Amino acid sequence: MQLTIEQFRLSQELDQLGSISEAPPPVVTRVVFTDADVRGREFVKSLCREAGLSIRDDPAGNTSARWQGSDPGLAPVGTGSHIDAIPNAGRFDGTVGVLGGLEAIRALQRAGFRPKRSIELVIFTSEEPTRFGIGCLGSRLLSGLLDPSAGESLKDRDGISLNQARASAGFTGSLATVALPRGYYSAFAELHIEQGPLLEQRQVPLGVVTAIAAPASLKIQIEGEGGHAGAVLMPGRHDAFLAAAEIALAVESAALSTGSIDTVGTVGVCDVFPGAVNSIPSRVRIEVDVRDIDQPRRDAVLRQIAEACDKTAAKRHVKIHSEMVNADPPAQCDPIVVNALVQACETHKIRFERMISRAYHDSLFMSRIAPTAMLFVPSRGGVSHRPDEYSSPEAIAQGVLVLAEALSRLSS
Ligand code: GLV
Ligand code: MN
Ligand code: MN
Repeated sequence: MQLTIEQFRLSQELDQLGSISEAPPPVVTRVVFTDADVRGREFVKSLCREAGLSIRDDPAGNTSARWQGSDPGLAPVGTGSHIDAIPNAGRFDGTVGVLGGLEAIRALQRAGFRPKRSIELVIFTSEEPTRFGIGCLGSRLLSGLLDPSAGESLKDRDGISLNQARASAGFTGSLATVALPRGYYSAFAELHIEQGPLLEQRQVPLGVVTAIAAPASLKIQIEGEGGHAGAVLMPGRHDAFLAAAEIALAVESAALSTGSIDTVGTVGVCDVFPGAVNSIPSRVRIEVDVRDIDQPRRDAVLRQIAEACDKTAAKRHVKIHSEMVNADPPAQCDPIVVNALVQACETHKIRFERMISRAYHDSLFMSRIAPTAMLFVPSRGGVSHRPDEYSSPEAIAQGVLVLAEALSRLSS
């Protein structure tokens, strides 16, 4: 089989999708169920239709585009990723796995390959936690790990529920029907940019992912006492922002205290009320993200953060309410899918390294219902979640080539 990747076309498609954004180029902001997200989905679906794939949307807005195999009764092989993007993001996070997955299918079609198992390209809803505070919404629902009542209980900052938001984007029906049975996919392989510096530093063209780190996130509400920034004297204050600042520093020291480079803690959201320069903050909401490849160590960090919240509440006489949004276990990739990727690298004489993923991905959840692994392409400077995120067309094409080869093995 002669596989050729249309690298120029794929690059153009990535650029076109990147231009569908709520912000001017090169900034990509494509938050789930916004107009940009809906237009991005339409763009990808039109390309899938051109490739002869049959498209199905589920009530959560996950889309699968199916290339029918010669034995449609067999469990399909899945590939894909997400197209939603955090505010001020770049063009490649998620989209490389979606448009690259599509190009892998087209390359197999051009080579005259006919899969025995169907191959499904999946576009997952809201891998990013931007709008509803929890990542991998679509794949959590697909894997049955998120209760369908989340449709009502998850709300965005404007109070719009997940059910209202998905309906406004045209996705209706019960979320209870989204979960797929274990074994629905015979295998799942996700292509993604590395989002870190290792492949570039080591000058290795591809990474075969063998495990995905365990993420957890917390929403912490702090209620203090507001007042006039001039008139209320320092000793009498219960400043909610200062309490939040103390907790943020505690997140940093808890993450550092493990002594492991694999533990990371971040406070990426801080909403201050009322947000006026001459007013003492009375309410603050922060969101905390903690990850590790070792779950017990990650959980110990979460306990330290909880203790810091108690101490700060007592010391500053503020009320602190902390809610664990998710605390997911790490995923081990499946040796059969890892081997298919490794053999595909070897067939095409492309060097690779086995590595772990420190970012989370929809594969974290797909691994609960299907044998799953991932393939990484290098990210320039290790940069991601920024407009200057970049992976070269050549690097992406190598990833697509290996993905196509692995899909052919897994679907034969
Ligand atoms: C995914 O985008 C992550 O935050 O790891
Ligand atoms: Mn991301
Ligand atoms: Mn991603």
